[in-house]
Amino acid sequence: MKNEEKSKCCSSEKEGGIWFTVSRRNFFTLAGWGLFFATIGAYLSQLMGYKGFFYPKVLFEPSPRFSVGTPTAFPENSVTTLKSRKIFVVHDGNSFKAISVVCQHLGCAVEFSKEKNIFECPCHGSKYYRNGVNFAGPAPRPLNHFEIIMDDAGKLVVDTSKVVPLETELIV
Ligand code: FES
Repeated sequence: MKNEEKSKCCSSEKEGGIWFTVSRRNFFTLAGWGLFFATIGAYLSQLMGYKGFFYPKVLFEPSPRFSVGTPTAFPENSVTTLKSRKIFVVHDGNSFKAISVVCQHLGCAVEFSKEKNIFECPCHGSKYYRNGVNFAGPAPRPLNHFEIIMDDAGKLVVDTSKVVPLETELIV
């Protein structure tokens, strides 16, 4: 009995070591499972996004509340375009307004015409008075007006997440 076990035990070693203890059928079964799990892993990593899986899903956007400087930065009776912020700062007398550059028709950026003293949309010809009220073209409503306040440091702060009524203005 002991001799039989010994001969069974050592026959594989004689044949070439541990690699010959796995039958061909087992080898292909293991290879099949390995391929299956590798495919599932690759699919899941694509689905989750390799890096995205390790980081929180957060949109890094600029804050809608920002400082535009001191009132003296805006000449009296002027319209200043802040392209990067997509607003006009309208300064008339001691009044300040923050008006959106986004046309209310299909969202093009309107431009201020100094000669005509109105806002004009280059896309389909909408026109807005200096106070943002539409009077020509397909725009269905006035330009959005945003909250504008003065902070403790004496700077004007605009919040584009807060749309205010047209007549709202900051008196300085
Ligand atoms: S987008 Fe301004 S008129 Fe059409």
